[in-house]
Amino acid sequence: MSLRAFNGEEGPALNRLVIRNLEHLRPWMPWAREAPTEEANVEYVQRTLQEWERGVGFGYWLREEATGEMVGCAGLHGRAAPRRLEIGYWVSADRVRRGYATASARALTTAAFAMPGIEQVEIHCDVANVASAAVPKRLGYRLDRVVPVAKQAPSETGRHLVWVIDAASWIAAAT
Ligand SMILES: CC(C)(COP(=O)(O)OP(=O)(O)OC[C@H]1O[C@@H](n2cnc3c(N)ncnc32)[C@H](O)[C@@H]1OP(=O)(O)O)[C@@H](O)C(=O)NCCC(=O)NCCS
Repeated sequence: MSLRAFNGEEGPALNRLVIRNLEHLRPWMPWAREAPTEEANVEYVQRTLQEWERGVGFGYWLREEATGEMVGCAGLHGRAAPRRLEIGYWVSADRVRRGYATASARALTTAAFAMPGIEQVEIHCDVANVASAAVPKRLGYRLDRVVPVAKQAPSETGRHLVWVIDAASWIAAAT
């Protein structure tokens, strides 16, 4: 599996993947309530490219090496705060438990700390999203806090786990 930057042509493939995974994504992803149009995914890819240009977000698609297929998405977002980035990810239902989310989050954490001024990386997930929480736990993130949030997807409890790691801990863990 490798992380690929979008080149602007991926909207239709992304649309097919999201539609195939709607039942899998809907419990946790607020944007997966209804099937997106192809146009919406084309726009999403364009927005992702613009975020890259503005340096406020770094979205990738996950390419499975054996098949060349798109099997999910992951990215770094500037939502957390200045000097902090947040990682998000999702993996196609037919490719889960192969370590793809963990490998993505590992690569993105390393990439985040290679950017000037980034001191901390965060991963947020609902307290009930066991599969998602396993990813930061595995990578050595620490659970920093539990925060109340508005429920935005059907399986969300309204409480988010905030997992964090700082640059020194990440570098120490990698050496
Ligand atoms: C959460 C998600 C990204 C995990 O992707 P993944 O590629 O399967 O994750 P990994 O293979 O790296 O799994 C890492 C570990 O998480 C745990 N895990 C993964 N799926 C799990 C599940 N369904 N139940 C319990 N634990 C699970 C396991 O400990 C797993 O390691 P193991 O397979 O060696 O036991 C994927 O299930 C998904 O896309 N879910 C829907 C969208 C979503 O919730 N995104 C995150 C929003 S915060």
